[in-house]
Amino acid sequence: MTSAAPAETILKSSHLLGIEQLSVPEITALLDLAETYVALNRGADKKTATLRGRTLINLFFEASTRTQSSFELAGKRLGADVMNMSVKTSSVSKGETLIDTATTLNAMRPDLLVVRHQDSGAAELLSRKLDCCVINAGDGSHEHPTQALLDALTIRRRRGAFQGLVVAICGDVLHSRVARSNIHLLLKMGARVRLIAPRTLLPADADRFGVEIFHDMKKGLQGVDIVMMLRLQLERMSGAFVPSTREYFHFYGLDHEKLKLAKPGAFVMHPGPMNRGVEIDSAVADDIEVSLIQEQVEMGVAIRMAVLDALSRGLAKEGRNAP
Ligand code: NCD
Repeated sequence: MTSAAPAETILKSSHLLGIEQLSVPEITALLDLAETYVALNRGADKKTATLRGRTLINLFFEASTRTQSSFELAGKRLGADVMNMSVKTSSVSKGETLIDTATTLNAMRPDLLVVRHQDSGAAELLSRKLDCCVINAGDGSHEHPTQALLDALTIRRRRGAFQGLVVAICGDVLHSRVARSNIHLLLKMGARVRLIAPRTLLPADADRFGVEIFHDMKKGLQGVDIVMMLRLQLERMSGAFVPSTREYFHFYGLDHEKLKLAKPGAFVMHPGPMNRGVEIDSAVADDIEVSLIQEQVEMGVAIRMAVLDALSRGLAKEGRNAP
């Protein structure tokens, strides 16, 4: 067993619902704590006793590969008991509501609940009804805080600081909780953010975020340090937002030719899952010189360990379910 980091309080809230509510010192402390877990995860003994005796429930109402598996791994590496609640096999498919399901789970006395739901605000609603720490793993098109934190960790490891960096977020911003959380985080940390998207895939009030907006990818990419690509979220679209995926790739798909317009040495990121040949060319996604996509996945486990650790410190302080 490896000894845990000193247990000072990091987060004011007992839930992680969004980046919007986090302060710069809180974000920095989470990134610093995650660094210790990056080192731990690269060693042979990846296990600590930080969450020994704690129970973590993963409650996913939407499909997930990376997020769910990394929360599971994060919980297990910290020594918690982890239960994955598959919504397809639960009573939700028999018509039970979100609140009923959550209240039932709450009676089993979990300490931490990770929830992904198709409705914006679902995690916040649960945080008001349940006794445990609630972590938002994506609510509709609202926020996905751990994705923005893992993206920030990936960027900070490569660039050192956020101040003055220019980050382009490209594609389906309208439906993307990843974009929203990243915009909040990058602006708070002092980076400049550009949104590059067709008008149909930008929120009507996008100019109020304090970002620069481009509809032409060739103009928007000029001089950027980081290019963050987003998936076309077809499951959230009613009707046609783009004429065809072929045409979309022509104007907004990232290939090596468009990437040449960015700053020399610029990096490419994507939260996954990718639609190859729609928003990103395989040759870019798999180019280890520029693509940080696999690194993002690695940072995902470390960030989720940091978040679980930080929230459980609050539990211990309150004496709630203290082991
Ligand atoms: C994202 C999500 O679910 O919001 N995926 C993820 O968590 N890595 C992005 C997406 O679905 O496109």
